[in-house]
Amino acid sequence: MFNVNDIRQDFPILSRKVNGKPLVYLDNAATSQTPQQVMDVIVDYYSNYNANIHRGVHTLSQEATDLYEQARLKIQTHFNAQFSHEIIFTAGTTHSINIVASGFTSLLKKGDEIIVSALEHHSNIVPWQMLCERTGAILKVIPMSEDGELLMDVYKELLSEKTKLVFVNHISNALGTLNPIEYIIDQAHRVGAAVLIDGAQACPHLKPDVQKLDVDFYVTSAHKICGPTGVGMLYGKEAWLNKLPPYQGGGEMIDQVTFEKTTYANLPHKFEAGTPNISGGIAFGAALDYMNGIGFDNIHAYEQDLLHYATAQLLEIEGLKIYGTSKNKTSVISFNLKGIHPYDVGTILDKLGIAVRTGHHCAQPIMDFYKIPGTVRASFAFYNTKAEIDVLVEGIKKAKMMLS
Ligand code: ALA
Repeated sequence: MFNVNDIRQDFPILSRKVNGKPLVYLDNAATSQTPQQVMDVIVDYYSNYNANIHRGVHTLSQEATDLYEQARLKIQTHFNAQFSHEIIFTAGTTHSINIVASGFTSLLKKGDEIIVSALEHHSNIVPWQMLCERTGAILKVIPMSEDGELLMDVYKELLSEKTKLVFVNHISNALGTLNPIEYIIDQAHRVGAAVLIDGAQACPHLKPDVQKLDVDFYVTSAHKICGPTGVGMLYGKEAWLNKLPPYQGGGEMIDQVTFEKTTYANLPHKFEAGTPNISGGIAFGAALDYMNGIGFDNIHAYEQDLLHYATAQLLEIEGLKIYGTSKNKTSVISFNLKGIHPYDVGTILDKLGIAVRTGHHCAQPIMDFYKIPGTVRASFAFYNTKAEIDVLVEGIKKAKMMLS
């Protein structure tokens, strides 16, 4: 295990005050904080290597290209992809999903079926609805239980030879449920459907192995994993990425261009038009180095301890209801105080220096399921402490007193 006080020294922001109080940052599912080691890599890049990549014969361009491609190799190793060209740098999870959704336009026909889950973030609903509008495909939804778990019996019934695609998140951003993706992938493959897993919320907590999962597409963002915003990854099996047309046209994604016809570059460049977020990609690799240095087994064990501690403390507060009570969940707690709007609770917590997210968490169907406007969501990372959870609990009690 690691020493959390030492870890916290790596994150300068954790020492700042908000509204005169020490910051208690519990909005990690929205974005994680950035360690000094990752910030140093960005400063080093702009101080010593800044140049455009894959283009110049000059030294800076070659060095920047090497750093960027080394980052791709780090990501490949981390996710255990078979080939480095199966890792496409993107602007983040949403961008990655849109590349796949756009690419399937020419591969679907009217009456084909697409399955998503009731637990999805809007970014894993809207692009597929748009795909259905373009193609005439039909969207089906795996329902959820009161605990926030997907109903696998119904999923099995939804699958048929008409199913072409299945899209599910690995972990729900709103409730923290860890979905049984191994089963979901296996069942989809039995009917010949491809599977995309949205890993944005899973990658901060565990280390997915895309070959072991046998998943067709896996997507995530760097900023949830101690990296910068504006960069992420699309993993796709080579055969799928070869089959999908490019998403954007532009520089670097071509083989030959004439006004009569353009041919496209090989993977991964086919999907990487334009100058990418070079420092972001390099920092993504550094963030994975940082997280692997701590170790995902350690991170998982520590966060589970925080989750159980916080759950027990919160349930002591009368009138507090937790949404998402699956046994398989990560360190996310969505809750409401009876008769009090989540926004009001969040505002009072902010005055006390505590950062939580309030609202529908870009997952309105989940809120509709529970017939609530939203929740307060506290999401913990490996740099949070039990002392911070105590501050949260006291803050909620105060908010309840002031608002009831
Ligand atoms: N999807 C992010 C969240 O859940 C922004 O907060």
